[in-house]
Amino acid sequence: MTSAVCLTSVKSPKPERRYVSIPIATLDPSSCYKLDLYEQHGSEDQYRLFRGRDFPLTADDLEKLRARGVKRLYIRTGEQQAYQSYLRDNLSNFIENESLPATQRFQILNQVTQDCLQETFERGDVSETVEASRDMGRHTVNLMSRADLVAHDVFSMIKHDFHTFTHSANVCSYSVLLAKGIGIVAPEQLEEIATGALLHDVGKIGIPYELLTKPDALSDEERELIQSHPTVGFARLCRREKLTWGQLMMVYQHHERMDGKGYPVGVKGDEIHPWGQLCAIVDVFDALTSDRPYHRGQHITEVLAYLERESGRGLDSGMVKCWTSIMSRNC
Ligand SMILES: [Fe+2]
Ligand SMILES: [Fe+2]
Repeated sequence: MTSAVCLTSVKSPKPERRYVSIPIATLDPSSCYKLDLYEQHGSEDQYRLFRGRDFPLTADDLEKLRARGVKRLYIRTGEQQAYQSYLRDNLSNFIENESLPATQRFQILNQVTQDCLQETFERGDVSETVEASRDMGRHTVNLMSRADLVAHDVFSMIKHDFHTFTHSANVCSYSVLLAKGIGIVAPEQLEEIATGALLHDVGKIGIPYELLTKPDALSDEERELIQSHPTVGFARLCRREKLTWGQLMMVYQHHERMDGKGYPVGVKGDEIHPWGQLCAIVDVFDALTSDRPYHRGQHITEVLAYLERESGRGLDSGMVKCWTSIMSRNC
């Protein structure tokens, strides 16, 4: 696969943000009372306190916000960690809440996964990123098994845009679908695959956003830097006891090709771990169906046709067949 198919990014330093947005779907009035919640008003940079510790959010407030079409509120950047721990403590409640439609629960999880990854990636703390990925991987497998979400639900709920954390969360859900499709049923293995997928582009931390989104041709040095991300990711993670070889190979080998024309090493066929092969397919699928800074996302049928053409060349033919059948059956 070419370097162009996985150009997601971690943004390079940007102006200090005072507030960060959070989806209201993640707010449960019975447990979010410790957060000060702000609403944006007027120009982009103006916020006013909506509800706080001494006047907490109610179910009625949420109803009214939804009726007004408000999907996000804001917290101060200093409260991000408190919000992350609130989410982690309460995510199971959302996922297990059978009164919410499965698609809504999936949307919450997908959003929370993106937010959680963004927060830990941007702090640059690899241990925390691994821990957050393990949590999110477990929740993803839990929800996808419990609610038996079909590929159609997953595909239609997913946001097809260009953002590292959107991409990683999408690759995670798709990996679970494909893993199940090829017959992996053990929850522990599915969780390992989900976590590996969330981490697959962790080596992009530190690569400037401008470079990863550059629409023009890349110089040799620029290409080399981008193509270093599987090696950098592997080097960052390889000494962590909690990660398995298969997960590390998802990080290290997801840009290898079955014909040996991939990177970073150019290994071929069986030399690529099956989970690396699996990650390669869903990685390219998400990259091509999503909007990029330099092109619109392609229609699913075009992308499946591309995968067919790559079947047995760049990508494992058995897994491509399985993925095509999962997606054509349900989408
Ligand atoms: Fe990727
Ligand atoms: Fe990648």
